Amino acid sequence: MNSDIEKVLVSEKEIDETIQRLGKELTQEYRDKNPLFVCVLRGAAMFMMDLVKSLDFKMEYDFMDVSSYGGENTITTGDVRIIKDLDTPVRDRDVVIVEDIIDTGYTLDRLVELFESRHAKSIKMVSFLDKPARRVKHVDVDYIGVKIPDEFVVGYGMDYDEHYRNLPYVGVLKPEVYTTK
Ligand code: PRP
Repeated sequence: MNSDIEKVLVSEKEIDETIQRLGKELTQEYRDKNPLFVCVLRGAAMFMMDLVKSLDFKMEYDFMDVSSYGGENTITTGDVRIIKDLDTPVRDRDVVIVEDIIDTGYTLDRLVELFESRHAKSIKMVSFLDKPARRVKHVDVDYIGVKIPDEFVVGYGMDYDEHYRNLPYVGVLKPEVYTTK
């Protein structure tokens, strides 16, 4: 699997340093708030599990799974469909949405709208990666790990055709991996 990677974009060391930094920042803000961290499956799962271990306060977490409606039409429509909803009510909760990557911005934009309609007390977002070059919908992400260039990335939760999520770093695939598929 490692031999399919052309270059490493975010190393394990950089991931660890990023998590520690974000953990400190989030601890400053949320230490007395018992926030609800919402992990957006599946890509964000690995980041979420590392992130929560770096938080020094009482908190709860839950998972939801969303998918972009219409596949190829995602960029034009931006519709997001809920595959698995939260089990935890968000009313009057300080909600922190945890993402692996913000790309067009549609997913986070729609999730904020959803939690507003469910009367969350506050809604903030943390994204491990930010790919600003691809943004269509402006979203103010409160906590960002690493800004990356406009390249298709895999690893640390992120996939190509459901594979490579288990790489412990973020990398870019060799072009022949796509062409020989
Ligand atoms: C990815 C990522 C975000 C979303 C970001 O999920 O995990 O949820 O895309 O893109 P956007 O800013 O353009 O909305 P994906 O649909 O690939 O599913 P996965 O997390 O299950 O891999």
